[in-house]
Amino acid sequence: MTKRNVIIDCDPGIDDALALMLACASEELNILGITIVSGNIRGEQCAENALQVLKLMGRLDIPVYLGETRPLRRDIVAAEETHGDDGLGGVTLPPVEEVRYQKDAIEFLRTSLTENEDVTVLAIGPLTNIAVLLEKYPEAARRMRELIFMGGAFKSHGNCSPVAEFNFWADPDAAGYVLNHLGRPTTMVGLDVTREVVLTPNYRELLHQLKEAQADFIVAITRFYTDFHWAQERTLGCVINDPLAVAYLLDPSICGGEDYYVDVVTEGKAIGMSMVDVGGITGKAPNCRVLTQVDAKAFMVLFLNRLFPAHRRDIDAVLDTERYGKL
Ligand code: BDR
Ligand code: CA
Repeated sequence: MTKRNVIIDCDPGIDDALALMLACASEELNILGITIVSGNIRGEQCAENALQVLKLMGRLDIPVYLGETRPLRRDIVAAEETHGDDGLGGVTLPPVEEVRYQKDAIEFLRTSLTENEDVTVLAIGPLTNIAVLLEKYPEAARRMRELIFMGGAFKSHGNCSPVAEFNFWADPDAAGYVLNHLGRPTTMVGLDVTREVVLTPNYRELLHQLKEAQADFIVAITRFYTDFHWAQERTLGCVINDPLAVAYLLDPSICGGEDYYVDVVTEGKAIGMSMVDVGGITGKAPNCRVLTQVDAKAFMVLFLNRLFPAHRRDIDAVLDTERYGKL
């Protein structure tokens, strides 16, 4: 099997952890490395969390690199109220000692993109690392095959302000810079599609019944996240944004979308808002595929069966009856 080269840029983060688990369980991906950006919590803790997830998945062979610990121009805005003070909903595992994370994610990105062909960058945190790479090493950045990012909201409302999604809100300058300057295919996996992917109480119960360490971990880290969703928006269960970007990489037929010019508001009341030029009013060429449709059931089938192939029969039985999306 020809594996697909990928670098995952992330800020784990509860849903980032789920994304890393799905990627680790997907044999067709050759994960060259994981680069860390400050976002949900500070970068150093995100790097520790990435190592813990890799250990759980038996993939400590994948190197972790710490990148930018501050947004380009904004003060840090973290999301402890969503992900917990430790970024994993209070599920504290012992620190990983077998390997440590390294510094200089930007140098790692430059080298990997220069030395490897066809590298896809999957970014599921604020786009600070990618913007710094692009500014410092534009040639290397433009060797990437494509950028698939979780961020932004088109017709959906925001989750940090009425109009802004967290990753764009946390570093709008980086998001705007990347969209306007990368010049490579980009795909926006925004709230329009990720909001449809809900880990409902039934799925959490199914995971609990599997009696597997990785399933127990998902149930544990999503407890805090589920409480947050109830308090915030009266959703039963939790929206798991980031693994949808991995699933789209694995199987693009899970989502549909269209190409538009997308820019980002970098100041004022609407800071972090993604502006999607549907009518071609700016006269600018499309720079992004904006995903607008998702088959949430297909996502769940892929997510659960990839992670727990030995339980396919139970998973399929539940998936036949479970409701997909919000209860
Ligand atoms: C995004 O923001 C973060 O809190 C999540 O990890 C996800 O990447 C959703 O808006
Ligand atoms: Ca994230």
